[in-house]
Amino acid sequence: MSCRVAQIHKVSSHPEVYEPCDDSFALVDALLADRTNLLEHKPTLCLELGCGSGYVITSLALMLGEVPGVHYIATDINHDAVRVTRETLQAHNVHADVIATDLASGLDTRLAGLVDVIVVNPPYVPTPEDEVGRDGITSAWAGGVDGRTVIDRILPVVDKLLSGRGWLYMVTLTTNNPLQICRQMKARGYASRIVVQRSTEEESLHIIKFWQDSGDQTCKRETTTPKKTAGGKVMDSVLSQMHRLPFWKKDEGND
Ligand SMILES: C[S@@+](CC[C@H](N)C(=O)[O-])C[C@H]1O[C@@H](n2cnc3c(N)ncnc32)[C@H](O)[C@@H]1O
Repeated sequence: MSCRVAQIHKVSSHPEVYEPCDDSFALVDALLADRTNLLEHKPTLCLELGCGSGYVITSLALMLGEVPGVHYIATDINHDAVRVTRETLQAHNVHADVIATDLASGLDTRLAGLVDVIVVNPPYVPTPEDEVGRDGITSAWAGGVDGRTVIDRILPVVDKLLSGRGWLYMVTLTTNNPLQICRQMKARGYASRIVVQRSTEEESLHIIKFWQDSGDQTCKRETTTPKKTAGGKVMDSVLSQMHRLPFWKKDEGND
């Protein structure tokens, strides 16, 4: 059987490019956990924002290998990452268009409303604001105040790019206030659920899936009735799951 994820020894590297790490593995695990839905979904256009080494986009292309006619695009602001991603894709005999750009600049008008799957492991580490967008490896993690500066730029971009049946898979950290992110996306019409959660003593990583929800968009804290999603699977609202998660704070209510 062919491998469903990129093989680490075939992932190219460069000192200024983010190496696959726990967050990259958690994102790929989330895609694998949702693979059956993704295969049924039959996306025609998949996009990774901030592809780094290419581990994630290569894994996505491998795990969807049996879906015919899928087109893959990956972007990164770091030119070394673009080159490394091309090498990683080539080493696994899969193809994506890899573009050096800020998020999806230059693509967003052409691709508006056309992307069926977006994956993103953003720079989410809280840093001083002036570290955001620096050259090289710093751009891999520097997330500004609460690690939200790049994330907050990503949300409207993905909203513009996603098709009506589009899905977003995004990595967040507890410090990023994922509940608030889910509420902001809910205000744009997206439901959400946590696909994978990984915790250490200090932090919790969440891979959250977002999709357009035609149902009630009211932001609820109470446990909600499971809803049928576009993919046909019953999913809990991420807002209800958050009651049970470490980052949920009872006094959080003014966002
Ligand atoms: C945490 S790393 C993730 C890399 C890879 N996706 C992974 O999971 O291993 C974040 C990536 O986003 C890229 N990045 C940061 N800001 C960006 C921006 N404004 N536009 C495009 N890429 C960006 C960085 O260069 C880096 O490669």
